[in-house]
Amino acid sequence: MSYDLIVLGGGPAGYLAAERAGHAGLKTAVVEERSLGGVCLNEGCIPTKTLLYSAKLYDGARHGEKYGVKAEGLSIDHAAVVRRKNKVVRLLTAGVKSQLKAVSADVFSARGSILGRDTEGFLVAAGEERLSGRRLLIATGSSAAIVPIPGVREGLESGFVLTNREILDLQTAPERLCVIGGGVIGLELASYFSSIGTQVSVIEMLDHIAGETDGELAALLQAELVKKGVRFELSARVTGLEPGTVTYEKDGEKQSLSCDRVLLSIGRRPNTEGIGLEALGVALSGRAVATDERMRTNVPGVWAAGDVNGKVMLAHTAYREAEVAVNDMLGIEDSMRYDAIPSVIYTNPELSSVGLTEQEAQKQGIDYKLVKLPMNYAGRYRAENEDGRGIMKLVTDPAGRILGGQALANYSSEFIVALGSFIGMGMTAAQVQKVIFPHPTVSEIIREAVFQCE
Ligand code: NAI
Repeated sequence: MSYDLIVLGGGPAGYLAAERAGHAGLKTAVVEERSLGGVCLNEGCIPTKTLLYSAKLYDGARHGEKYGVKAEGLSIDHAAVVRRKNKVVRLLTAGVKSQLKAVSADVFSARGSILGRDTEGFLVAAGEERLSGRRLLIATGSSAAIVPIPGVREGLESGFVLTNREILDLQTAPERLCVIGGGVIGLELASYFSSIGTQVSVIEMLDHIAGETDGELAALLQAELVKKGVRFELSARVTGLEPGTVTYEKDGEKQSLSCDRVLLSIGRRPNTEGIGLEALGVALSGRAVATDERMRTNVPGVWAAGDVNGKVMLAHTAYREAEVAVNDMLGIEDSMRYDAIPSVIYTNPELSSVGLTEQEAQKQGIDYKLVKLPMNYAGRYRAENEDGRGIMKLVTDPAGRILGGQALANYSSEFIVALGSFIGMGMTAAQVQKVIFPHPTVSEIIREAVFQCE
């Protein structure tokens, strides 16, 4: 069968590209070996958000007295939470399937790999089928990184060690969970499991959690999680795993902790192996497919979008990259910008960030101004957060142009996009002062902040 476009991978980059391309009239095939929706829909963004929402309701009810709410005989049923998660995933994957059908894209449920070229363009195997395509989009995503620490492989085989994939299907919550890696996945799942009563310990190699995000807000988030009972071992190096035990080194001393399960969340690796990239000579940058700002690879007619290009491994980046790639295929001028991509850690409270942090501005030697405000300046935040200690930071250049912003507060995931667009449009604090925010909303903290910029 021959196509205008063959998409390898049916995650956010792949399915959205196929939708956009199909809509534009390109005859498109999507090859997906697991389930449409990829990691995001099946074992990442969406499943974790359904779990975290249940935890938030439970936390709210448990601490309701502060708000005049009394609940008795309260409990949370993890298996029921997982069942609901599966329902949400089913509904959304069915939605993706019908969107692809609506644009007449063909979906092949098989592992795809590039075989080489043919007279039409590129030859791809989708299981037993042979597809021919004038263009190719590589959107094969990423997989959990597996460290070569003694005991990890055996642990993964026995089920003692889990990645984001397996942990989301546990029917029974572990009594004690050890999370290796205090990044986004580790923190979100630590937040969920600690809320539902699991004793959670996080072992992180660095001296801080939450990666590159603002250090002050990360430390505050850590304090919030500690209040919920999460234990952190920072600057700690895991040296080995044995059934029921994790051994690590900290301050030059060997230590160990006992747990029922281990979550391995130490980052992700682009899926570039075993998909035939070498048949076309597609160039890599490290383990990722090298792409330019139009998502082109070094091979004309081949684009790559999403985690596989290793740039910013977030579903919303993948969506935009997919659109840029398809626009480029259609001859529509477009290019990818990476300077205003919001990122959110959906813990309770959420930590949201976009653009430069104070620390990055310092590191880059950029002359900057900082406004830092307690979230309590926003009336709705105060109304809904008894003892809320959230903070918002706004980074501008000396002329007031917005460079970045971060907030530790629930709903910040919903308003960080505003800051991202102000950055994208090159707006100054003075210009944002004229924007009307709905009142009362947590987002009004941005309005407060821009009025503090001189
Ligand atoms: P990550 O890169 O966010 O964090 C990994 C953490 O593990 C880092 O803090 C690192 O220092 C630590 N680490 C690495 N090796 C270690 C070792 N041997 N021992 C102890 N600590 C070690 O990776 P994560 O959490 O696995 O997430 C993967 C990707 O998925 C990220 O790119 C993230 O952006 C994306 N993601 C995004 C979400 C969101 O936007 N809310 C949710 C979940 C994942």
